[in-house]
Amino acid sequence: MPLLEAAGIKKIFGKLTALDGAALTVGENEFHGLIGPNGSGKSTLMKCIAGAEVPTQGKVSFVNTDITAFTPTERARAGMSLKFQITSVLPTLTLYDNILLALQAQSSLFDLLFSRTRGVLHDQVMTMLTQFRLADRAFDAAAALSHGQQQWLEIAMALAGKPRLLLLDEPTGGMSLEERRVTGELLQPIKQHCSLVIVEHDLDFIRDICDRLTVLDQGKVLASGTVSEIQANKAVQEIYLRRA
Ligand SMILES: Nc1ncnc2c1ncn2[C@@H]1O[C@H](COP(=O)(O)OP(=O)(O)OP(=O)(O)O)[C@@H](O)[C@H]1O
Ligand SMILES: [Mg+2]
Repeated sequence: MPLLEAAGIKKIFGKLTALDGAALTVGENEFHGLIGPNGSGKSTLMKCIAGAEVPTQGKVSFVNTDITAFTPTERARAGMSLKFQITSVLPTLTLYDNILLALQAQSSLFDLLFSRTRGVLHDQVMTMLTQFRLADRAFDAAAALSHGQQQWLEIAMALAGKPRLLLLDEPTGGMSLEERRVTGELLQPIKQHCSLVIVEHDLDFIRDICDRLTVLDQGKVLASGTVSEIQANKAVQEIYLRRA
């Protein structure tokens, strides 16, 4: 059984059909890239998976459970985490407190009542900040970070609940080339415990980090397969040439 299986996803906004039977299958510890031209339905599909949009038709299964009717909170509890383009960082708080809040949101009230937990949480915060190369900025306000660093902080926060699937919609938007390269490096280690669905326009970036790709075009899956299969696919080459 795959970790995530979205099938026959249709999403209609008024007169516009944003998704027309789209599908996405993601295995355990797989990095999956979702690509396609502007307006092809990538963000809408991510939202239907995360529960931010309700599909007009279709089914989403996650960890052997039909989650089509689950709320975003129920999906998060089941092990799904997402970071969209809109920021969830609290800019006036320090990086340390931002991560601490994200971790506390995952802890039970019972855990929080024991002071012992504070030490454990401290170690977890510092481990996450170190993993995302932000430890030296721990006590700076999040607002003082560069754009790229803010994105890394958000990814770290999205990982606080130890999800089995992380959804990232254009995490490298507005980043410098160097920041993109570092983002690829920072994401690699999470593969040991988490799968990833990532939307990106930067095809070099996505080719470097993903195992498999799904290509959307006008709300439908044009192709899905390994990176080399997709690169060799004539229909995919055509939509990218059409766009250029
Ligand atoms: N809330 C909404 N209401 C109405 N139409 C919407 C809504 N969200 C998306 N759409 C439309 O659905 C289509 C798919 O949009 P979507 O944002 O999913 O595309 P995308 O592939 O993520 O594009 P981009 O690469 O530009 O981010 C577009 O035509 C868009 O205008
Ligand atoms: Mg989008």
